[in-house]
Amino acid sequence: MLIKTENLTMTYKNGFTAVKNLSLNVAEGDIFGFLGPNGAGKTTTIRMLTGLLKPSSGKVFVNELDVASNENEVKKIIGVVPESHGYYNWMTSVEYLSYFAELFGKDKSKYTKHIEYLLEKVGLSDKKKVPIGHYSRGMKQRLGIAKSLINNPKIIFLDEPTLGLDPIGQKDIQNLIFEINKVMNVTVFITSHLLKDIEVLCNKVSIVQNGELIEQGSIKELQDKYSENETIKLKTSDNIKVYQFLKENKMFTGLELKDDNIYIYVNKACNNNLLNEAKHYIVEKLFVNSIDIHEIGKVETTIEDIFFKLTDKKVRN
Ligand SMILES: Nc1ncnc2c1ncn2[C@@H]1O[C@H](COP(=O)(O)OP(=O)(O)OP(=O)(O)O)[C@@H](O)[C@H]1O
Ligand SMILES: [Mg+2]
Repeated sequence: MLIKTENLTMTYKNGFTAVKNLSLNVAEGDIFGFLGPNGAGKTTTIRMLTGLLKPSSGKVFVNELDVASNENEVKKIIGVVPESHGYYNWMTSVEYLSYFAELFGKDKSKYTKHIEYLLEKVGLSDKKKVPIGHYSRGMKQRLGIAKSLINNPKIIFLDEPTLGLDPIGQKDIQNLIFEINKVMNVTVFITSHLLKDIEVLCNKVSIVQNGELIEQGSIKELQDKYSENETIKLKTSDNIKVYQFLKENKMFTGLELKDDNIYIYVNKACNNNLLNEAKHYIVEKLFVNSIDIHEIGKVETTIEDIFFKLTDKKVRN
Protein backbone atom coordinates (compact mmCIF):
# COMPACT_ATOMS: atom_id res chain seq x y z
CA MET A 1 0.00 0.00 0.00
CA LEU A 2 1.27 3.44 -0.85
CA ILE A 3 -0.79 5.03 1.91
CA LYS A 4 -2.00 3.23 4.96
CA THR A 5 -3.59 4.77 8.02
CA GLU A 6 -4.34 3.00 11.26
CA ASN A 7 -6.99 4.40 13.58
CA LEU A 8 -6.11 7.93 12.62
CA THR A 9 -7.68 10.43 15.02
CA MET A 10 -7.48 14.20 15.27
CA THR A 11 -8.83 16.16 18.20
CA TYR A 12 -8.25 19.89 17.83
CA LYS A 13 -7.14 22.07 20.75
CA ASN A 14 -10.73 23.16 21.40
CA GLY A 15 -11.63 19.53 22.11
CA PHE A 16 -13.41 18.89 18.81
CA THR A 17 -12.64 15.53 17.21
CA ALA A 18 -12.60 16.06 13.46
CA VAL A 19 -11.30 12.61 12.46
CA LYS A 20 -12.07 9.40 14.35
CA ASN A 21 -10.29 6.05 14.04
CA LEU A 22 -9.86 6.34 10.32
CA SER A 23 -8.22 3.40 8.57
CA LEU A 24 -7.55 3.85 4.86
CA ASN A 25 -5.57 1.95 2.25
CA VAL A 26 -4.48 3.51 -1.02
CA ALA A 27 -2.65 1.28 -3.49
CA GLU A 28 0.00 2.40 -5.95
CA GLY A 29 -1.66 3.51 -9.19
CA ASP A 30 -5.02 4.34 -7.58
CA ILE A 31 -7.05 7.44 -8.22
CA PHE A 32 -8.57 7.43 -4.78
CA GLY A 33 -11.64 9.58 -4.12
CA PHE A 34 -12.07 10.81 -0.56
CA LEU A 35 -15.65 12.00 -0.23
CA GLY A 36 -17.78 13.53 2.46
CA PRO A 37 -20.01 16.51 3.19
CA ASN A 38 -18.60 19.87 4.32
CA GLY A 39 -16.88 19.50 7.66
CA ALA A 40 -16.53 15.71 7.36
CA GLY A 41 -12.80 15.87 8.10
CA LYS A 42 -11.31 15.53 4.60
CA THR A 43 -8.89 18.46 4.76
CA THR A 44 -7.89 17.51 8.31
CA THR A 45 -7.09 14.01 7.05
CA ILE A 46 -5.06 15.28 4.09
CA ARG A 47 -3.07 17.50 6.43
CA MET A 48 -2.24 14.49 8.59
CA LEU A 49 -1.38 12.31 5.58
CA THR A 50 1.03 14.93 4.28
CA GLY A 51 2.70 15.60 7.63
CA LEU A 52 1.30 19.11 8.07
CA LEU A 53 -0.71 18.17 11.13
CA LYS A 54 0.30 15.78 13.87
CA PRO A 55 -2.44 13.23 14.62
CA SER A 56 -3.75 13.00 18.19
CA SER A 57 -3.49 9.23 17.85
CA GLY A 58 -3.10 6.59 15.18
CA LYS A 59 -0.54 6.20 12.45
CA VAL A 60 0.04 7.19 8.84
CA PHE A 61 2.39 5.27 6.56
CA VAL A 62 3.32 6.67 3.17
CA ASN A 63 5.34 4.29 1.00
CA GLU A 64 5.75 2.20 4.17
CA LEU A 65 7.37 5.09 6.04
CA ASP A 66 5.83 6.21 9.30
CA VAL A 67 5.09 9.89 8.58
CA ALA A 68 5.59 10.88 12.24
CA SER A 69 9.25 9.93 12.19
CA ASN A 70 10.12 10.34 8.48
CA GLU A 71 8.63 13.70 7.66
CA ASN A 72 11.43 14.82 5.33
CA GLU A 73 11.62 11.53 3.44
CA VAL A 74 7.86 11.57 2.95
CA LYS A 75 7.87 15.19 1.70
CA LYS A 76 10.24 14.11 -1.11
CA ILE A 77 7.77 11.64 -2.55
CA ILE A 78 4.51 13.56 -2.23
CA GLY A 79 2.97 16.59 -3.90
CA VAL A 80 0.11 18.63 -2.46
CA VAL A 81 -2.49 20.90 -4.01
CA PRO A 82 -4.12 22.41 -0.91
CA GLU A 83 -7.70 23.63 -0.54
CA SER A 84 -6.54 27.23 -0.92
CA HIS A 85 -3.10 28.49 -1.69
CA GLY A 86 -1.38 31.80 -1.58
CA TYR A 87 0.57 32.76 -4.70
CA TYR A 88 3.29 35.29 -5.12
CA ASN A 89 1.33 37.33 -7.61
CA TRP A 90 4.29 39.28 -8.95
CA MET A 91 6.12 36.12 -9.99
CA THR A 92 5.76 34.41 -13.35
CA SER A 93 4.96 30.71 -13.44
CA VAL A 94 8.57 29.87 -14.31
CA GLU A 95 9.87 31.91 -11.35
CA TYR A 96 7.29 30.33 -9.06
CA LEU A 97 8.11 26.76 -10.10
CA SER A 98 11.88 27.46 -10.00
CA TYR A 99 11.50 28.69 -6.44
CA PHE A 100 9.96 25.35 -5.40
CA ALA A 101 12.44 23.32 -7.44
CA GLU A 102 15.23 25.04 -5.49
CA LEU A 103 13.47 24.36 -2.20
CA PHE A 104 13.71 20.69 -3.17
CA GLY A 105 17.44 21.19 -3.78
CA LYS A 106 17.21 20.67 -7.53
CA ASP A 107 19.91 21.81 -9.87
CA LYS A 108 18.96 24.62 -12.26
CA SER A 109 20.35 22.79 -15.30
CA LYS A 110 17.96 19.93 -14.51
CA TYR A 111 14.82 21.71 -13.39
CA THR A 112 14.59 24.16 -16.32
CA LYS A 113 13.58 21.37 -18.72
CA HIS A 114 11.24 19.79 -16.16
CA ILE A 115 9.45 23.12 -15.66
CA GLU A 116 8.99 23.50 -19.43
CA TYR A 117 7.56 19.98 -19.50
CA LEU A 118 5.16 20.62 -16.61
CA LEU A 119 3.94 23.94 -17.98
CA GLU A 120 3.23 22.27 -21.28
CA LYS A 121 1.32 19.46 -19.53
CA VAL A 122 -0.88 21.90 -17.61
CA GLY A 123 -1.46 24.07 -20.67
CA LEU A 124 0.39 27.15 -19.47
CA SER A 125 3.33 27.19 -21.91
CA ASP A 126 2.09 30.35 -23.58
CA LYS A 127 1.63 32.14 -20.22
CA LYS A 128 5.19 31.69 -18.96
CA LYS A 129 6.00 35.39 -18.93
CA VAL A 130 2.68 36.56 -17.48
CA PRO A 131 2.65 37.41 -13.73
CA ILE A 132 0.54 34.97 -11.71
CA GLY A 133 -1.60 37.88 -10.49
CA HIS A 134 -3.04 38.07 -14.02
CA TYR A 135 -4.00 34.39 -14.14
CA SER A 136 -7.61 33.18 -14.00
CA ARG A 137 -8.66 30.82 -11.21
CA GLY A 138 -8.43 27.82 -13.56
CA MET A 139 -4.92 28.81 -14.64
CA LYS A 140 -3.83 29.23 -11.02
CA GLN A 141 -5.23 25.82 -10.19
CA ARG A 142 -3.32 24.24 -13.07
CA LEU A 143 -0.16 26.00 -11.92
CA GLY A 144 -0.77 24.59 -8.43
CA ILE A 145 -0.91 21.11 -9.96
CA ALA A 146 2.36 21.75 -11.83
CA LYS A 147 3.89 22.86 -8.53
CA SER A 148 2.77 19.65 -6.84
CA LEU A 149 4.66 17.68 -9.50
CA ILE A 150 7.93 19.60 -9.30
CA ASN A 151 9.68 16.90 -7.21
CA ASN A 152 8.48 13.98 -9.40
CA PRO A 153 6.31 12.64 -6.57
CA LYS A 154 4.93 9.12 -6.31
CA ILE A 155 1.63 10.48 -5.05
CA ILE A 156 -0.24 13.77 -5.15
CA PHE A 157 -2.99 15.00 -2.87
CA LEU A 158 -5.60 17.25 -4.44
CA ASP A 159 -8.01 18.97 -2.05
CA GLU A 160 -10.99 20.06 -4.14
CA PRO A 161 -9.00 20.93 -7.24
CA THR A 162 -12.06 21.97 -9.24
CA LEU A 163 -13.59 24.30 -6.65
CA GLY A 164 -14.91 27.44 -8.32
CA LEU A 165 -14.02 26.37 -11.85
CA ASP A 166 -16.38 26.54 -14.81
CA PRO A 167 -17.33 23.29 -16.60
CA ILE A 168 -14.48 23.65 -19.11
CA GLY A 169 -11.99 24.29 -16.30
CA GLN A 170 -13.34 21.24 -14.46
CA LYS A 171 -12.91 19.07 -17.55
CA ASP A 172 -9.35 20.37 -18.04
CA ILE A 173 -8.44 19.34 -14.50
CA GLN A 174 -10.12 15.97 -14.93
CA ASN A 175 -8.12 15.25 -18.11
CA LEU A 176 -4.97 16.46 -16.42
CA ILE A 177 -5.51 14.11 -13.46
CA PHE A 178 -5.96 11.18 -15.85
CA GLU A 179 -2.74 12.09 -17.62
CA ILE A 180 -0.81 12.50 -14.36
CA ASN A 181 -2.01 9.11 -13.21
CA LYS A 182 -1.81 7.11 -16.42
CA VAL A 183 1.14 8.74 -18.20
CA MET A 184 3.29 9.99 -15.34
CA ASN A 185 2.35 7.01 -13.12
CA VAL A 186 1.48 9.15 -10.12
CA THR A 187 -1.01 7.86 -7.55
CA VAL A 188 -3.76 10.42 -6.89
CA PHE A 189 -5.65 11.12 -3.66
CA ILE A 190 -8.47 13.54 -4.41
CA THR A 191 -11.35 15.16 -2.56
CA SER A 192 -14.17 16.72 -4.52
CA HIS A 193 -17.83 17.56 -4.18
CA LEU A 194 -18.29 16.96 -7.90
CA LEU A 195 -19.43 13.39 -7.56
CA LYS A 196 -19.90 12.89 -11.29
CA ASP A 197 -16.20 13.62 -11.79
CA ILE A 198 -15.25 11.30 -8.98
CA GLU A 199 -17.25 8.54 -10.61
CA VAL A 200 -15.41 8.98 -13.90
CA LEU A 201 -11.96 9.45 -12.37
CA CYS A 202 -11.63 7.22 -9.35
CA ASN A 203 -11.14 3.49 -9.18
CA LYS A 204 -11.74 3.53 -5.43
CA VAL A 205 -13.62 5.79 -3.04
CA SER A 206 -14.03 6.27 0.68
CA ILE A 207 -16.91 8.22 2.16
CA VAL A 208 -16.52 9.95 5.51
CA GLN A 209 -18.99 11.79 7.68
CA ASN A 210 -18.45 13.48 11.03
CA GLY A 211 -14.86 12.25 10.91
CA GLU A 212 -15.78 8.59 10.51
CA LEU A 213 -15.44 6.25 7.59
CA ILE A 214 -18.93 5.22 6.54
CA GLU A 215 -18.21 3.33 3.32
CA GLN A 216 -15.41 2.36 0.96
CA GLY A 217 -14.82 0.28 -2.13
CA SER A 218 -14.53 0.42 -5.86
CA ILE A 219 -17.27 2.26 -7.74
CA LYS A 220 -18.55 -1.09 -9.06
CA GLU A 221 -18.62 -2.66 -5.58
CA LEU A 222 -20.61 0.24 -4.20
CA GLN A 223 -22.99 0.24 -7.15
CA ASP A 224 -23.68 -3.45 -6.66
CA LYS A 225 -24.10 -3.05 -2.94
CA TYR A 226 -26.47 -0.08 -3.06
CA SER A 227 -28.76 -0.94 -5.92
CA GLU A 228 -31.58 -3.14 -4.66
CA ASN A 229 -33.20 -2.91 -8.06
CA GLU A 230 -31.98 -3.04 -11.59
CA THR A 231 -33.43 -0.10 -13.44
CA ILE A 232 -34.45 0.00 -17.07
CA LYS A 233 -34.98 3.37 -18.71
CA LEU A 234 -37.42 3.32 -21.59
CA LYS A 235 -38.57 5.96 -24.04
CA THR A 236 -41.30 5.13 -26.54
CA SER A 237 -43.70 6.74 -29.00
CA ASP A 238 -46.51 6.37 -26.42
CA ASN A 239 -45.20 6.31 -22.86
CA ILE A 240 -48.64 6.55 -21.23
CA LYS A 241 -49.97 3.51 -23.03
CA VAL A 242 -46.80 1.54 -22.31
CA TYR A 243 -47.01 2.50 -18.65
CA GLN A 244 -50.52 1.03 -18.51
CA PHE A 245 -49.37 -2.24 -20.13
CA LEU A 246 -46.42 -2.68 -17.85
CA LYS A 247 -48.44 -1.95 -14.74
CA GLU A 248 -50.30 -5.20 -15.27
CA ASN A 249 -47.13 -7.29 -15.04
CA LYS A 250 -46.01 -8.50 -11.64
CA MET A 251 -42.43 -8.97 -12.82
CA PHE A 252 -41.60 -5.36 -11.98
CA THR A 253 -41.12 -4.00 -8.49
CA GLY A 254 -41.91 -0.48 -9.54
CA LEU A 255 -42.72 1.81 -12.42
CA GLU A 256 -42.25 5.53 -12.74
CA LEU A 257 -43.08 8.06 -15.46
CA LYS A 258 -40.50 10.81 -15.25
CA ASP A 259 -39.04 13.39 -17.68
CA ASP A 260 -40.32 11.75 -20.85
CA ASN A 261 -39.07 8.35 -19.75
CA ILE A 262 -40.47 5.30 -18.05
CA TYR A 263 -38.28 3.86 -15.30
CA ILE A 264 -38.87 0.19 -14.68
CA TYR A 265 -37.47 -1.40 -11.55
CA VAL A 266 -36.65 -5.08 -11.43
CA ASN A 267 -35.72 -6.73 -8.15
CA LYS A 268 -32.09 -7.77 -8.34
CA ALA A 269 -32.35 -10.42 -5.66
CA CYS A 270 -34.92 -12.53 -7.56
CA ASN A 271 -32.87 -13.92 -10.35
CA ASN A 272 -29.94 -12.71 -12.40
CA ASN A 273 -31.71 -13.17 -15.67
CA LEU A 274 -34.77 -11.21 -14.73
CA LEU A 275 -33.41 -8.05 -16.26
CA ASN A 276 -33.01 -9.73 -19.65
CA GLU A 277 -36.40 -11.39 -19.35
CA ALA A 278 -37.93 -8.02 -18.53
CA LYS A 279 -36.27 -6.39 -21.54
CA HIS A 280 -37.49 -9.16 -23.86
CA TYR A 281 -40.98 -8.88 -22.48
CA ILE A 282 -41.03 -5.12 -23.02
CA VAL A 283 -39.65 -5.26 -26.55
CA GLU A 284 -42.10 -7.97 -27.57
CA LYS A 285 -45.08 -6.27 -25.98
CA LEU A 286 -44.31 -2.99 -27.72
CA PHE A 287 -43.71 -4.69 -31.06
CA VAL A 288 -47.07 -6.44 -30.93
CA ASN A 289 -48.76 -3.15 -30.12
CA SER A 290 -46.86 -1.22 -32.82
CA ILE A 291 -45.26 1.19 -30.38
CA ASP A 292 -41.80 2.46 -31.33
CA ILE A 293 -38.94 2.23 -28.87
CA HIS A 294 -36.87 5.39 -28.96
CA GLU A 295 -34.51 4.31 -26.25
CA ILE A 296 -34.03 1.38 -23.89
CA GLY A 297 -31.13 0.87 -21.50
CA LYS A 298 -29.96 -0.03 -18.05
CA VAL A 299 -29.51 2.75 -15.50
CA GLU A 300 -26.54 2.42 -13.13
CA THR A 301 -26.70 3.62 -9.53
CA THR A 302 -24.48 6.70 -9.35
CA ILE A 303 -22.01 7.64 -6.65
CA GLU A 304 -24.26 10.65 -6.10
CA ASP A 305 -27.21 8.33 -5.32
CA ILE A 306 -25.04 6.36 -2.89
CA PHE A 307 -23.63 9.51 -1.30
CA PHE A 308 -27.14 10.87 -0.64
CA LYS A 309 -28.36 7.56 0.66
CA LEU A 310 -25.50 7.26 3.14
CA THR A 311 -25.05 10.84 4.27
CA ASP A 312 -28.77 11.59 4.60
CA LYS A 313 -29.11 8.90 7.25
CA LYS A 314 -26.74 10.56 9.66
CA VAL A 315 -27.25 13.87 11.34
CA ARG A 316 -24.96 16.57 9.99
CA ASN A 317 -22.94 18.39 12.59
N1 LIG B 1 -8.13 24.31 13.66
C1 LIG B 1 -9.33 23.80 13.97
N2 LIG B 1 -9.80 23.84 15.23
C2 LIG B 1 -11.00 23.31 15.56
N3 LIG B 1 -11.82 22.71 14.67
C3 LIG B 1 -11.42 22.64 13.40
C4 LIG B 1 -10.15 23.18 12.96
N4 LIG B 1 -10.02 22.95 11.64
C5 LIG B 1 -11.14 22.32 11.26
N5 LIG B 1 -11.97 22.12 12.30
C6 LIG B 1 -13.27 21.43 12.28
O1 LIG B 1 -13.07 20.09 11.93
C7 LIG B 1 -14.13 19.63 11.11
C8 LIG B 1 -13.55 19.05 9.85
O2 LIG B 1 -12.99 20.11 9.05
P1 LIG B 1 -12.31 19.85 7.68
O3 LIG B 1 -11.84 21.14 7.15
O4 LIG B 1 -11.33 18.76 7.80
O5 LIG B 1 -13.57 19.32 6.82
P2 LIG B 1 -13.70 19.04 5.27
O6 LIG B 1 -14.26 17.69 5.13
O7 LIG B 1 -12.43 19.34 4.57
O8 LIG B 1 -14.83 20.07 4.82
P3 LIG B 1 -15.03 20.89 3.45
O9 LIG B 1 -15.75 19.93 2.51
O10 LIG B 1 -15.93 21.99 3.84
O11 LIG B 1 -13.70 21.33 2.95
C9 LIG B 1 -15.07 20.80 10.90
O12 LIG B 1 -16.14 20.68 11.80
C10 LIG B 1 -14.21 22.00 11.23
O13 LIG B 1 -14.97 23.05 11.74
MG1 LIG C 1 -11.88 20.65 3.13
